[in-house]
Amino acid sequence: MATESQRWWSEETVAVVTGANRGIGLEITRQLADKGITVIMTARKPQEELSSAAGTFLQEGRRNVVFHTLDIDQPQSVLEFVQWLKTKAGFVDILVNNAGVAKSEVDWEFVQKNNVDSATIIGDIRWMDGISEKYESAKECIGTNYYGTKRVTEALVPLLRPSSYQPRIVNISSLLGLLSFLRDEEVRKELGDVETLSEEKIERVLEAFLEDVKRERKLSRWPHKFPSYALSKVALNAYTRVLARRLEGKACVNSVHPGYVKTDMTLGTGDLSPSQGAHHVVSLALSPPPSPSAHNFLQHHQSSF
Ligand SMILES: NC(=O)c1ccc[n+]([C@@H]2O[C@H](COP(=O)([O-])OP(=O)(O)OC[C@H]3O[C@@H](n4cnc5c(N)ncnc54)[C@H](OP(=O)(O)O)[C@@H]3O)[C@@H](O)[C@H]2O)c1
Repeated sequence: MATESQRWWSEETVAVVTGANRGIGLEITRQLADKGITVIMTARKPQEELSSAAGTFLQEGRRNVVFHTLDIDQPQSVLEFVQWLKTKAGFVDILVNNAGVAKSEVDWEFVQKNNVDSATIIGDIRWMDGISEKYESAKECIGTNYYGTKRVTEALVPLLRPSSYQPRIVNISSLLGLLSFLRDEEVRKELGDVETLSEEKIERVLEAFLEDVKRERKLSRWPHKFPSYALSKVALNAYTRVLARRLEGKACVNSVHPGYVKTDMTLGTGDLSPSQGAHHVVSLALSPPPSPSAHNFLQHHQSSF
């Protein structure tokens, strides 16, 4: 995190946070707002249907927090949000792509019968018994985490404000998004070769995975733990690198794993509170210029992809 003397932002700085209804996204919004930044807090639900925690936060009535609905799965919602943002702020300095889902199916009967606790189901990297992938939910997971994030990012790139500190895009990824979790060497090489990486390549891999799930083939080429979620984050990391190359000199684009955080997504298991997870994200978003770009971070530490 930048120290006070390295502070490059002001109340004029505009940050957009997706998926701020609960969990890490709500805490990122709070921490950015605490810094005095103007935060556009977004969620797929309208304001009157937000979680009680998000509603309470908004009721604090902070002058530098503005709410707007944004469902990253819905092209029309993204379009309306961008039109609104153009008239409201005109530009963006920080985009935090936090919205995400994890959609594998858990067989709770199996879990109960075998006395497996939630921390093992979610947190043990080797455990997959009682967890399965269904085509519709795998498609939904990849749809939100990769295509939805890309949709909102591409729509906001034209609004990134040119500046000497460079606007920042922070993609919230996962430890499970590391290339090393891919069990097929060809796919690992294909998504790991930054020189030849492209969105078309990334999307071909995603389609191949979904085809395997649809045909109920063995998923031995794909990540063992939560395959659709892990692959969606591998793809998001690859997109981070493609976008960072495209925006070189204009914006800093990075991925970050916030840590294993106690939220609804992890069924309340984890090592960190949402606030601690958010801190890793906010530190990266506010890093003093020259900010890194095209990097992957595991919490505070720079990591390979
Ligand atoms: N918790 C962890 O240990 C952990 C670890 C690594 C990475 N992450 C990543 O961190 C991010 C936040 O996760 P979390 O743990 O805070 O999960 P969470 O508590 O389940 O929150 C997810 C948030 O994303 C929102 N969302 C989902 N689909 C959306 C859409 N189409 N449009 C807009 N918002 C949408 C949800 O909105 P609703 O409230 O309306 O459902 C919710 O606010 C995710 O990208 C996740 O993959 C989490």
